[in-house]
Amino acid sequence: MYSQGLNGPAEKNTDDSPEQLAAFQKRIDAEEKIEPRDWMPSGYRKTLIRQISQHAHSEVVGQLPEGNWVTRAPTLKRKLILLAKIQDEAGHGLYLYSAAETLGVSREQMIDDLLSGKAKYSSIFNYPTLTWADMGAIGWLVDGAAIMNQVPLCRCSYGPYSRAMIRVCKEESFHQRQGYEVMLKMANGSPEQRRMAQDALNRFWWPALMMFGPSDKDSIHSAQSMKWKIKRFSNDDLRQKFIDATVPQAHYLGLEIPDPELKFNEETGHWDHGEINWDEFYQVIAGNGPCNRERLAARRRAHEAGAWVREAVLASQQKHKQPREVA
Ligand code: 3HC
Repeated sequence: MYSQGLNGPAEKNTDDSPEQLAAFQKRIDAEEKIEPRDWMPSGYRKTLIRQISQHAHSEVVGQLPEGNWVTRAPTLKRKLILLAKIQDEAGHGLYLYSAAETLGVSREQMIDDLLSGKAKYSSIFNYPTLTWADMGAIGWLVDGAAIMNQVPLCRCSYGPYSRAMIRVCKEESFHQRQGYEVMLKMANGSPEQRRMAQDALNRFWWPALMMFGPSDKDSIHSAQSMKWKIKRFSNDDLRQKFIDATVPQAHYLGLEIPDPELKFNEETGHWDHGEINWDEFYQVIAGNGPCNRERLAARRRAHEAGAWVREAVLASQQKHKQPREVA
């Protein structure tokens, strides 16, 4: 999408001069959008490629936990909604891969990095989906956390990423509402449905909080990314906003947040929460979560199964490049 009109990869910089860096920062401070052909520091380009490609991988791998329930959705209507949501996620992956390509990285390289285990994708998608209530919890909590993190990205300093995020966020907000509606139905259903809804919340609450990344003191990229206005808020600030917005929603459902230390702080106006299990987080992003191997194996299988499509597209492109024979 965005890569159209570019004649090859944008220029790469290895020796950024202090003058160039200062002029660039001035543009950022003036809230100007940086576009693919503009000069940018090599670190800015590298950070964006890392973040946007990880984000694209998350959207694509994120289809798998929900895909697990397509054939078992309780009604035809629920199946159609779930299918549409999963297709939206595939679309988000495509916008984001295209946005990353404008920075000079090829899609093949990004996919290779995912399949080899070199590139990260969001920790949340390494947890299993055990019951139908998980479809509700994912929409409500996972898409809810994603929106909280991604709405500020609509103001990211890099033009193609910020524009892709505007559309993504509109769709994510629909996803969040459909998830909450599933939870509402289950929480007000039979005792067994209510138990399933609570169980899904119990299992997804802490992993959803981990989606925002390590605490600010351990976040290696935040300070520079905020200076470059790629990120607008710190990981902890966004996590707190999410908790403050979500706790009342859980209360409305009549469900309990699985955190005995959760308490409203009258002085700060925020919900104080218990300690996040960072060991678990680092294990998951190191590839040792409950479903990491399964998720990557599924992506590798899909990539292999799609080889004939890529070959057919290339063959067709070649054919159209050749001059036509005149009869
Ligand atoms: N899962 C996996 N890795 C994570 C992570 C998470 N939840 N949070 C942080 N990390 C990784 C970082 O990528 C970084 O590793 P790296 O140096 O190898 O790239 C390391 O942990 C340190 O974290 P930092 O806080 O320093 O990293 P960032 O400044 O990049 O912040 C982030 C992390 C907040 C996730 C940021 O990259 C971001 O905002 N990304 C864009 C949004 C995104 O990718 N969301 C993923 C979910 S998309 C989704 O949920 C799909 C939807 O359909 C629901």
